[in-house]
Amino acid sequence: MLDVVRRLGNAEASRCTLEQFDSLYDRSIEDGDGFWLEQAKRLDWFHEPSRAGEWSYDPVEIAWFADGKLNLCHNAVDRHLDRRGDDMAIIFEPDDPQGDGRTLTYRQVHAEVVAMANALKAIGVTRGDRVTIYMPMIVEGVLALLACARIGAVHSVVFGGFSPEALAGRIEGCGSRFVITADEGLRGGKRVPLKANVDAAIAEPDHDTPIDGMLVVRHTGADIPMTAGRDHWYHEVASGADCPCEPMDAEDPLFILYTSGSTGKPKGVVHTSGGYGVWTATTFAYVFDYRPGEVFWCTADIGWITGHSYIAYGPLLNGATQVVFEGVPSYPDHGRFWEVVDRHKVNILYTAPTAIRALMREGDDFVTRHDRSSLRLLGTVGEPINPEAWRWYFDVVGKKRCSIVDTWWQTETGGVMITTLPSAHDMKPGSAGKPFFGVRPQLVDHEGAVLDGAAEGNLCITHSWPGQARTVYGDHERFEQTYFSTYRGKYFTGDGCRRDEDGYYWITGRVDDVINVSGHRMGTAEVESALVSHAKVAEAAVVGYPHDIKGQGIYCYVTLNAGEAGSDELHTELRSHVRTEIGPIASPDHIQFSDGLPKTRSGKIMRRILRKIAENDYGSLGDTSTLADPSLVDRLIEGRQNR
Ligand code: PRX
Repeated sequence: MLDVVRRLGNAEASRCTLEQFDSLYDRSIEDGDGFWLEQAKRLDWFHEPSRAGEWSYDPVEIAWFADGKLNLCHNAVDRHLDRRGDDMAIIFEPDDPQGDGRTLTYRQVHAEVVAMANALKAIGVTRGDRVTIYMPMIVEGVLALLACARIGAVHSVVFGGFSPEALAGRIEGCGSRFVITADEGLRGGKRVPLKANVDAAIAEPDHDTPIDGMLVVRHTGADIPMTAGRDHWYHEVASGADCPCEPMDAEDPLFILYTSGSTGKPKGVVHTSGGYGVWTATTFAYVFDYRPGEVFWCTADIGWITGHSYIAYGPLLNGATQVVFEGVPSYPDHGRFWEVVDRHKVNILYTAPTAIRALMREGDDFVTRHDRSSLRLLGTVGEPINPEAWRWYFDVVGKKRCSIVDTWWQTETGGVMITTLPSAHDMKPGSAGKPFFGVRPQLVDHEGAVLDGAAEGNLCITHSWPGQARTVYGDHERFEQTYFSTYRGKYFTGDGCRRDEDGYYWITGRVDDVINVSGHRMGTAEVESALVSHAKVAEAAVVGYPHDIKGQGIYCYVTLNAGEAGSDELHTELRSHVRTEIGPIASPDHIQFSDGLPKTRSGKIMRRILRKIAENDYGSLGDTSTLADPSLVDRLIEGRQNR
């Protein structure tokens, strides 16, 4: 029998009962435009939109609220000043629990965001310019996004864990001439040389986008070189002068965020102001059932979409109070999350399954020694959560008193797409739940036939929603090709999924060559190209395999150039090479040297076989007779077992 956990919410206090949900959902499908024009009223518009969705998936052209004008920084900050200017907006929790924490009211956020917007103008940033943000998880990191939005610049945040090489590609990719960074970041007591990484990135020999200006936030006080005329200390150029919010068209780009796919380099996914604003504001309000005065905490980094939608935008658009956390769950010990929850009386916690699994492994004591009675709602995002981890989150962390929302979504969807809503829905551990308002999922088989009722297939979305990405920066054809060509006329998510008899969706993971390592999305092709850029490597194939903590681990098969031999030293060297090329998140878990890769006679690598061998599952290798060299499979298995 399937495990079902009854909804817990107090229906009286909640925003949405099951009956309300059902009727709102029906309305969002029957009269989508009316529904979304109503939701759009959550925001302040300089010019209210009269039109909602105008879109086609063949050819691909997507617009929402196209005749509206607004500014999301105004919506996240300025418009709250009259009514809740003195309410707390941000509670900053530093990496070191004894370090300098601080709190900012909406009025203080306003002063700081104006100062940063002025600093951007002072270094020459104007409307439409792309600005790369490479920051630690500090208040200025969050404000950097809003400051760009304020003056109509397009932000492109690069996760602070990416290497200079990866950063260089992302600066180059969107022709960004401006960078916001900090002297150093801090994570779990370790320093991250952010400014030095930016310097290294722009000194790359093939980097030909000149950087006109860089803002450097002083954080650790490290001694760093500054290039005169180009690099500016943020505190020296910040100013309190008036800086009005630029009125933006709803469809003006708000940001670019690079994300991995099955092939090629990461793509710069583009989100626009109006639709993204409405989607993040609406999903935040319903999914987290946020109530005034509560404290929300999303543990993501602003380098990922979760940090964009549920730190920088969603909570602030709703006038919420939130914790911004610089550190990691394991520092100074594995009780840090619960210590922070108690210190700031966190009511809603939003984190990733990988963190839950890592903490679960350390035992219950780290949790139970803290009170946690402030917690009301728990959320997860980023990868499927195994029922065992769900249970631990529910039973131990939440003491069976807190609803769990398992939210499925993607960089491309802008915000949550499938989830249960607290107090409306019963929960099923391991299932994300039901489609959010306006979301129309469809399961299809490999040939594109639509699967009805309880079924398992590939997950598509048939109708556009306001938060949908509009294009890939500078390459609309790639956008069409990647998402709309597998199943013509539908958005294909890249995920496999099962729908049960109650209409609950169970995401089974990626069906393409994308792997999800600790909730970080990575293209196997990216790791392969990092490996083959090493002088001794001839060829590489990378696959994911199940990993207890990370969800998926990275398994690499490597063939070496003639005359080279695999060794422990080379193993270490290749790992560090991948870290340099991409960053620590892409460190291979296993490297197996092999004298060849299993290919068909036409030269196509048979990844299915490599996946099975990596999983130690040799019973179901399938047909290997079409391989150019069938005997290779035995040698690969032997290599796997001797590893
Ligand atoms: O495979 C799905 C998985 O993460 C992918 C999207 O990754 P990214 O764009 O980096 O965004 C992550 C944060 C929104 C999806 O294609 N995924 C995300 N959330 C879930 C999930 N898989 C299962 N359950 C989830 N709740």
